[in-house]
Amino acid sequence: MAGWSGEIGASGLARRLLGKPVFLYRLEDGRPAALLDRCPHRFAPLSRGSRDGDRVVCGYHGLTFAPDGQCVHNPFAQRIPAGSRIPTFAVAERDGIVWLWCGDAAEADPALIPDFGFIPDTPASRTVRGYTLMQANYEYGTDNLLDLSHIEFVHKGTFAGQGVIFAGQHSVRQDGDTLHSDWWMPGIAPPSVAQAHFPPDAKVDHWLDMRWNAPASMRLTVGVSPHGAGRDAGFEVPQAHILSPADAHTTHYFWSSTRYDNLGDPNVDAALLALFGEAFDQEDKPMIEAAYANVRDNLERGGDFWKEKPLSLGIDQGGTRARRLLESLIAKEALAGG
Ligand code: FES
Ligand SMILES: [Fe+2]
Repeated sequence: MAGWSGEIGASGLARRLLGKPVFLYRLEDGRPAALLDRCPHRFAPLSRGSRDGDRVVCGYHGLTFAPDGQCVHNPFAQRIPAGSRIPTFAVAERDGIVWLWCGDAAEADPALIPDFGFIPDTPASRTVRGYTLMQANYEYGTDNLLDLSHIEFVHKGTFAGQGVIFAGQHSVRQDGDTLHSDWWMPGIAPPSVAQAHFPPDAKVDHWLDMRWNAPASMRLTVGVSPHGAGRDAGFEVPQAHILSPADAHTTHYFWSSTRYDNLGDPNVDAALLALFGEAFDQEDKPMIEAAYANVRDNLERGGDFWKEKPLSLGIDQGGTRARRLLESLIAKEALAGG
């Protein structure tokens, strides 16, 4: 994921992705385009330049580039200098998300983009979105999301459920290249997300279903129903949790949450943004960053996660499976020359 659709405004968006500076902007017909944000003359970011229709004009000395990366104007000569073409990236926009493929554009396959169809607003749904930059490798963010036992400890100020995670069963299953890490907590007191829907002495069934696709695109479904009534009798809140590496040690964390009630109430938007902002920015992020800081030196000296000999507690098998699956996908891609 390169960004939320709404982030690419009239002036475009400069963002570091997979260690590369990328400039995302919209063509006149509204489609997104992505160029390496580095002019080949004296390396100015093209995001500091201006636009001439679909073309990007470098703000330093005026070289002009077409969306295919070709230099099409040199203010100092008729001749276009050799080696002036800049790399471009395949992009696709779907579900209010701009996806970017950093490899060979011919290999980009939009059919592999996971479904986040719940995100765009409809007459019956409304989504709040957020973004934060995390000083940690993206796989450490995945570990956090696939092991929701941390809710009891990290989210004391927001979602902590008075021990409900301990009342639950956790299961991990793989379906093709999709991984599911699901928690099922039957017959518990309503968790904080459901307190408006149930009397405090009610017994409910609660589920937290996490779907993972490589490299780190996750959908969390938070569900609550009256105890024993079946999932259809309850309600669900689908969320996106998508991590994209800015570089090996820095991660863009995009999150969203969709609701099907109180649609028109801006106070609800503000309350949800405040709640999630606190949970993800002030509870998850500092813990993930501090844990990552404890291994970063070793990783930079050529180590890896497994060489740190992480303890296994069982609850962490979702994160472990995702790491293994990612390793095998990366190996497969390397073998194919990707
Ligand atoms: S740096 Fe872009 S034209 Fe000189
Ligand atoms: Fe968390």
